[in-house]
Amino acid sequence: KPYIVIMAGGIGSRFWPYSRRKRPKQFLDILGTGRTLLQMTYDRFRQLASPEQFFVITYRKYVDLVKEQLPELQDYQILSEPNRKNTAPCIAYAGYKIHSIDPNATMIITPSDHLIQQENKFFKSIKKALVAANEPGRLVTLGIKPNRPETGYGYIQYVEGSGKDALKVKTFTEKPNIKLAKAFIDSGDFVWNSGIFIWKCASLIQAMEKHMPDLAEVFQEGEEHFGSEGEADFITKAYLQFKNISVDYGLMEKSSDVYVILGDFLWSDLGSWQSLHEVREQDEDENVIEGNVMLYGTKKSYIKSDSGKLIVVEGLENYLVSDTDNVLLICPLDGEKRFRQFVSNARKKG
Ligand code: GDD
Ligand code: MG
Repeated sequence: KPYIVIMAGGIGSRFWPYSRRKRPKQFLDILGTGRTLLQMTYDRFRQLASPEQFFVITYRKYVDLVKEQLPELQDYQILSEPNRKNTAPCIAYAGYKIHSIDPNATMIITPSDHLIQQENKFFKSIKKALVAANEPGRLVTLGIKPNRPETGYGYIQYVEGSGKDALKVKTFTEKPNIKLAKAFIDSGDFVWNSGIFIWKCASLIQAMEKHMPDLAEVFQEGEEHFGSEGEADFITKAYLQFKNISVDYGLMEKSSDVYVILGDFLWSDLGSWQSLHEVREQDEDENVIEGNVMLYGTKKSYIKSDSGKLIVVEGLENYLVSDTDNVLLICPLDGEKRFRQFVSNARKKG
């Protein structure tokens, strides 16, 4: 039985001003389903696993949100990180922790903020991945057929015909520049990394020892603290030493024992207002409307009132209007590259 590790420590600044530092997108019901993205991720894997097989790993300030949103979990199943150090330390922590409980365990690591549709197809891919991950040393990931040269993803080049279900990975390139991304798309034998990883804890540890020896050493020396009173103290000290690095740069680009399962389910990482606009229900003019809104002559826009105020709009096309209690944002819907700038400048302004 695999362990399910949900990573829920990201900031999600691109959904600003709706998504805030205090409550990033994984803790919001951004799809309007009545469940948050974290809860939807949990519900999805709950079909495969019972509550005690889960761990959620998050930044310490979000621990209470996780408890509130996933009441089936016990406190020990929520791993708290003292600092944001990206996904390599996060995955290492979960991996060493689970390894200390069961040295033979397999883990499925998943982001908490993605949309997956066609779950039957998804579960088939997961089952194939679990079989592939049984081979010692292997790191397995799910790949997604790309449809645009997106630079925010990892690109996986696989060896065609190298297996029935699991294909051998030739190269893994995290967040290429646009030129490279275009070349990858044109060449045809590349898929996007979904960010969902499947491996035995022992395989992860082996790969960490080889490619991230500093990180591995800290956890190795501290393994005795897992499950004891000293765990939080050990983690606090350990995190001070870690570099901020994602597992994609730290392990996936470096390891030569990586396999990919080609997923045919519908996947979106909901990385921007625009991508949310694509997956949400639209009116006849392709607008997505939330809250108290009146539209005239407006097309292909996302108009969202969370302030309770009535928003009246005329003559917009491809625009975003997001109104919250203390921030109103009006900008082109595809202006996602600028969001980080908005957020940081707004923060300076106070
Ligand atoms: N606990 C914890 N701690 N979680 C974290 C941290 C951290 O320090 N940093 C990020 N996360 C969580 C995020 O909340 C998200 O659910 C997941 O880990 C992935 O982090 P992102 O920051 O969203 O990564 P990314 O989108 O830039 O890139 C990854 O996902 C892409 C697909 O969406 C990579 O794996 C890419 O290769 C991949 O294509
Ligand atoms: Mg992401």
